[in-house]
Amino acid sequence: MRGTRLKETITFIEGMVYECVVTTFSEDRAPHSASMGVRFYSRATEDIAIIRPHVESQTYRNLVTRKSGAINVVDPLMLVECALDLEILEKEYRSARSVDAPLLEGAQAWIEFTASNLITEGEWSVVECALKEVRAGNRQLQLFSRATSALVEAAVAASRVQVYRKMNDQDGLRELMKTIERSISLARRLGKGTLVERVADELIKRYLV
Ligand SMILES: Cc1cc2nc3c(=O)[nH]c(=O)nc-3n(C[C@H](O)[C@H](O)[C@H](O)COP(=O)(O)O)c2cc1C
Repeated sequence: MRGTRLKETITFIEGMVYECVVTTFSEDRAPHSASMGVRFYSRATEDIAIIRPHVESQTYRNLVTRKSGAINVVDPLMLVECALDLEILEKEYRSARSVDAPLLEGAQAWIEFTASNLITEGEWSVVECALKEVRAGNRQLQLFSRATSALVEAAVAASRVQVYRKMNDQDGLRELMKTIERSISLARRLGKGTLVERVADELIKRYLV
C-alpha cells in the first residue's frame, strides 16, 4: 500500500501521541535515527505530522539543515534502541523515495515528509511535517506486550537523565530513576528469558549501577 494520505494505510486517532522513529540525514549525509512522539492530523489537501525534537538533539539540527525526514513505524524494542543506542538491535538504512532522507530497513511503515514549518518553544522545537509518501511494509502483526511497553517507559526516562543532570535537577533525577527501576523490573518479570530481559539488563548496567 502506497499513497500520500495516512488513513488509506494506517489507522490513527488525530492528535494522539504515537511513538515512532524519525530518520534524517546529517549535514555530511550520515543517517540518523531518534525515537520521537508524533501527532498526525488530516488537512483538506494533505496530511501533516507534528514532532517536537529537543533543540539540542541531532534530529533538530538535521531538520534545520535538510528540511526533510521520515517517520518510521517500528516495534517497541527498536524504539528503545533508537532512543538510547544500546547497540543490541542492528539498524540498517536505505534511501526514501520522495524526500532526501534515510528509512529504517524492516520498519512496519514509512512516512516521508518535508519540514514545512519549524519553530522553537524554549528547549523544544515544534516541527510541522507535510506528508509526501506513506507506505506499509509487509511485516507480520505483532502481539501487544506490557514487557516491551514497560521497556519503552524506562527508555523515555533514561533518555532524559542527561538533560536533568545538566540542569542539576536532583528531585527530577530521583523521579526518573524510580521510573526506570519500576519499569525495568516489570519488563524483566514479563519478558524473562527473552531479548526484553537482555535489553533490560543493558539499561540496568547503563543507568542504575
Ligand atoms: C518513546 C520515546 C519517545 C521520545 N520522544 C522524544 C521527543 O518527542 N522529542 C525528543 O527530543 N526526544 C524524544 N525522545 C528521546 C530521544 O529519542 C533521544 O533523546 C534521542 O537520542 C535524542 O535525539 P537525537 O539522537 O536526535 O539527538 C524519546 C524517547 C523515547 C524512548
